[in-house]
Amino acid sequence: MHYKNTTAVVTGGSKGIGASCARLFFEAGANVAVLDISEDGSGISDDRWFCIHCDVSNNLDVSNAMQAVVKKFGGIDYLVNNAGIQRYGSVTYTSEEEWDLVMNVNLKSLFLCSKYAIPYMEENKKGVIINISSVQAFVSQRIVAAYTTAKTAILGLTRSIAVDYAPHIRCVAVCPGTIDTPMLRESFALSPNPEEVLQECIDMHPAGRIGVPEDVGELVLFLCSDKASFITGQAIRVDGGLGITIGGSKRN
Ligand SMILES: NC(=O)c1ccc[n+]([C@@H]2O[C@H](COP(=O)([O-])OP(=O)(O)OC[C@H]3O[C@@H](n4cnc5c(N)ncnc54)[C@H](O)[C@@H]3O)[C@@H](O)[C@H]2O)c1
Repeated sequence: MHYKNTTAVVTGGSKGIGASCARLFFEAGANVAVLDISEDGSGISDDRWFCIHCDVSNNLDVSNAMQAVVKKFGGIDYLVNNAGIQRYGSVTYTSEEEWDLVMNVNLKSLFLCSKYAIPYMEENKKGVIINISSVQAFVSQRIVAAYTTAKTAILGLTRSIAVDYAPHIRCVAVCPGTIDTPMLRESFALSPNPEEVLQECIDMHPAGRIGVPEDVGELVLFLCSDKASFITGQAIRVDGGLGITIGGSKRN
């Protein structure tokens, strides 16, 4: 897969899954723009690598960031809507503020980033948008009411974009299982025994391990390539089989 002379925008590209997507695009020859509120931890210093401080839930930030990307690189070919946050709570224990925060960062941001990137894609009659959802769009667990709602709604937005902007622009949702990132480690740290939680997580995946960010990044690059030109509007799981079991997948 060659991405020379193309431009990829990756939101939340400073850490975790987004960092992997950004690095893989860069290694494949693309110009890369990382939109994030955290500092870039890549160590990459290159004319093809552009970091913009941007809160993806803020309309003005996103509009300015997309303009800055086009000013620097001349267009936008790929948008990976990856930035997200995890917050825990059932409906009764989730405050209105927390609900709005999760919806804004995990859902509205995809609307905003797509809204401001699509016109540039349309200029070139070409583009791919990848929306990072979760297995939690299909299955759930305790106390993730806002998160699972946002991740499920992403699938509807994905279909809507795929239909509205076909055939030139494709839009695909990617639904990861458990992936070893700072977000996951922060979740584990809430438990008195993080190592036990890690082992429980591993046991839930028929693959016998949790994922690494590259498991998702490699799929994203494939889906953005012409090899995936007949795939649009879909939700593709990359979950080591997590979503296919009803428990009892642990091997002795
Ligand atoms: N790690 C997992 O197990 C897992 C599983 C399924 C889905 N996901 C999804 O994958 C995506 C990436 O998750 P991760 O585990 O790499 O998370 P992470 O916390 O490790 O990294 C997320 C990145 O998003 C950035 N970010 C957060 N809020 C932002 C905002 N308002 N504006 C701009 N940037 C912002 C953070 O600064 C960080 O760099 C998220 O959408 C998450 O919901 C993760």
